[in-house]
Amino acid sequence: MKGVILAGGSGTRLNPLTRITNKHLLPIYDRPMVTYAIEALVKADVTELMLVTGGTHAGEFLRLLGNGHEYGIGRLLYAYQERPGGIAEALALAERFVGGDRVVVVLADNILERSIAGPVRSFQRQPHGARILLSAVDDPAHLRHLGVPALDSDGRVTKILEKPDDPPSHYAVTGIYFYDERVFEVVSTLEPSSRGELEITDVNNWYVERAQMEYDVLDGFWGDAGESIDAYYAVNDFVRLHGANKG
Ligand code: G1P
Repeated sequence: MKGVILAGGSGTRLNPLTRITNKHLLPIYDRPMVTYAIEALVKADVTELMLVTGGTHAGEFLRLLGNGHEYGIGRLLYAYQERPGGIAEALALAERFVGGDRVVVVLADNILERSIAGPVRSFQRQPHGARILLSAVDDPAHLRHLGVPALDSDGRVTKILEKPDDPPSHYAVTGIYFYDERVFEVVSTLEPSSRGELEITDVNNWYVERAQMEYDVLDGFWGDAGESIDAYYAVNDFVRLHGANKG
């Protein structure tokens, strides 16, 4: 399985910090944010990675990560996104790298307390389709800024709503996604959303509509450090006290 780390975007929600650097290079406790996504993948034995980024600070990733060996990466490739066009558009840049394999995609501003080794193994056993990781979130105001699944009485996902006014469940769709080899075909059919982006939620709903979407509910803390300055500090505080990507 290949790993794709998405570290692009304009980071407007963390402006003005993101005027001087890429969001994913900002510190979380004692190291740059992007290194947590790398650690999550490497600890789950996904070591063939592509990092997709863009903007004026893209070169700094090379300076930080080099060939990746210091971080336990076997092979590290880079792709450059010419303009922020959404998560699914960024993923499309990894098509040749993934090359018909399966892929786990990590948004580099998502920080987890626990290792993703279990879900990686579950996806390896899954015959086909996609898999998402859900995190329980009680606050409906928070859910309105995220992807939220609707679930039926058997617990199957019936639809994922992006930033819903009326969240249909108490779960957030986190930024860790598993896809089979059809994902690039799906991405190529997408149309931009009202925010002008190719939405990962549309990719996920393609699998949901075919009853090929599985999920795990995460244990422990999950945070999207790019969501707001308060979320950024909440993630920092958590990681400083409790650590991240623990086995
Ligand atoms: C993206 C996804 C959203 C998901 C979130 C997790 O949101 O579109 O479904 O819940 O990441 O971090 P964005 O950060 O693009 O607003």
